[in-house]
Order: sequence, then C-alpha cells, then structure tokens
Amino acid sequence: MFTERIYNFSAGPSVLPLPVLEQAAAEMTNYRGCGMSVMEMSHRSKMFISIFEETKADLKRLMKVPDTHEIIFMQGGATLQFAAVAMNLIGKTGKADYAITGNFAKNAMKEAKKYGEVHIAASSEDRNHTYIPSQDQLIISPDASYFYYCANNTVYGTEWKYVPETGGIPLVCDMSSNILSKPVDVSKYGVIFAGVQKNMAPAGMAVVIIDKALLGNELPITPKLMSYKVMVDEDSMPNTPPCYTIYMLGLVLKWLDKQGGVEGMEKLKIERARILYDFLDESAMFIGCAEREARSDMNVTFRTASKELDEKFVKEAAQAGFENLKGHRSVGGMRASIYNAMPVEGVKALVEFMKDFEVKNKLGV
Ligand SMILES: Cc1ncc(COP(=O)(O)O)c(C=O)c1O
Repeated sequence: MFTERIYNFSAGPSVLPLPVLEQAAAEMTNYRGCGMSVMEMSHRSKMFISIFEETKADLKRLMKVPDTHEIIFMQGGATLQFAAVAMNLIGKTGKADYAITGNFAKNAMKEAKKYGEVHIAASSEDRNHTYIPSQDQLIISPDASYFYYCANNTVYGTEWKYVPETGGIPLVCDMSSNILSKPVDVSKYGVIFAGVQKNMAPAGMAVVIIDKALLGNELPITPKLMSYKVMVDEDSMPNTPPCYTIYMLGLVLKWLDKQGGVEGMEKLKIERARILYDFLDESAMFIGCAEREARSDMNVTFRTASKELDEKFVKEAAQAGFENLKGHRSVGGMRASIYNAMPVEGVKALVEFMKDFEVKNKLGV
C-alpha cells in the first residue's frame, strides 16, 4: 500500500500530470459554479460546448494543425481506427500500403485486408521489430490509396525518426504513443490518429486529424459513427461524445501549454530518454532491446540475461514504487514508458534503483 503517488511506467493507460488530476478533483462535483460535474452535463449545453471548442482550439494551436485539416474525436480507441482508416480511405483505388514495424501496424493491416488489397511496403519482422526500415527499404505502390505506418511501436520500443516520403500517396500515421511529444508537420499527413490514453487523456477515445481533401471516399458499408465525413460534418457529435475524456484532454493541453507546448515536451523527452539510455549503455546487467538508431523516446525496452532476474527486478521495483515495468507479454523483459507526464525525477529515481539492483545482484555476490 502506498500513501504517496508512485512512479507509474505503464504503457497505457498511463500517468497523467498531477496538477491535471488535482484540478479535475477540485472541479469534480461542481464545475466552475454550474452546480454539476462535467460528467453530468448535456453535451449540447453551453458549458460543455465551450469546453469542447476550447479543447479543439488548443489542440489545433499546439499541433499547428493547418486549416486544410480537421480535428475529430472518436470513440473506440486506436483499434477502431484500424478499421476506420481502411473503410474511409481504401475505396479510392482499392489498395493500400502498410509498413509493419510491430503488432499494432500488423493489426491495422489485418483490419484493412477486410476492405481492400493490402501490400506490405516494408517489415521489421525479420529482426523481431527491433529496428525501423529506412526510406530506401520502403516499396511504395504508385496506386495505393494511402501509406500506413505506426510512428512509435509501444511494445517493441522503436520510433520512426523520419517522415516517409511517398511521392504524393497520402500518409496515414498511428501516433498513439508519441503524439504531442515533439513538433510534427501535420500538413504532410492525410490522417493522423492517436488513442488518447498515453499522452493525452484517460482511455476511451481517439483523436483523428484528417486532411479534408480525403473526405467522402468511404465504403458504403461504413457505419455512421466510423465515417470521417459524418464526424467532420457534425463536429464529432452525431451522437453523445465521450464528454469527460474531452474535458480531461482539455486540462492536459492547458498543462502542456504551460510546460512550453510540444517544443517543451520535446526537450523533456530527450532528457528523460538520454538518462535511461545512457545508463543502459554503460550497465553490465541491463541490455536495451531496440537497435540504437531506432530507440523510442517514449517506451524504453530492456532486459537482463536471465528471465528470473527480469522477474525479480520487476517485482522489487514495484515494491519500491516503480510500477508497471514488466515488458509486453509478446516480448518479455522490461519496458519503461516515459510519456509526457513522467517527471524527469521519476526517470532519475528509476536509474538509481537500477544501479542499486545491479550492484546487489551481481553474479556471484
Ligand atoms: C501505437 C498503438 N496503436 C494502437 C493501440 C491500441 O489502442 P487502443 O487500446 O486504444 O485500441 C495502442 C495501445 O497501446 C498503441 O500503443
């Protein structure tokens, strides 16, 4: 049992900024004098519409979303977008290209296969997704409706360090686990989507940013609530939206703004990742899993030489207040997810714990 907050390295749902949780708690039963919680308000009320508009405007400003693109909020998390992307976009030519750099991209491809012809433009499966294919390794079909990739592979701890050049084929990107961690040139993308439960808000929603020029190509079977056109035309509210999640996203964005926006987040993420990777590079016990050039600044995957030692580490770390360090079940080892809301002190404290663990568990001691 902990009486204080711990350092939570969960890959998602993930740590939220403490000031955001405190503000939500303070506003929980009576939001700004209106006598009710945000959870209890009509989504058509003036009060909620102003929360909604402000959240959208803040996201547009922070991500510098150009007027050519629209922001929509959709339920169903990132996984529903795997199908939504295909249903809304593949109809143009019936074909799409996918870069397979992990389980989530693969799952997205599986969904797309239900709706059209899919071509694997590149894959990192040959080395268990420990690297990101280079631009020269991408085989892009000239008649693809879009090119799909996952910017940060949450499970494997790899991250694309470049934006693929596709020669005019619209880029579709799953940014679930690194959105808002650095500036992104939104104008280069046809669709950006992200499940919100890592860098944005509590789980239950995806943010989608779409180039309006791509609207209107959805397959006739597309459910109303999965149609990007319907969502844009009805400003994300053809039905009741996830109101409280949108409100929480709004609070996170205000917090993020105060930390220097996405530029501020980028500085912090570089610092956090450097502290952890520098230690992994010098450690005689812990080994980083991802290849160096592909290392993610959001999800750091590592292991020791033995499964038993990995388990001991995860257990003792949890007892010391470093939670959720177990690697994904498909990969094993450890994973420290160091998203925007993880304080630099949390990473420093983790490294101190790892150093201590290494000394105490040296072979033969
Ligand atoms: C990169 C990425 N894409 C998609 C998903 C799936 O998200 P959801 O659970 O919201 O469907 C995750 C979840 O961890 C993820 O990390």
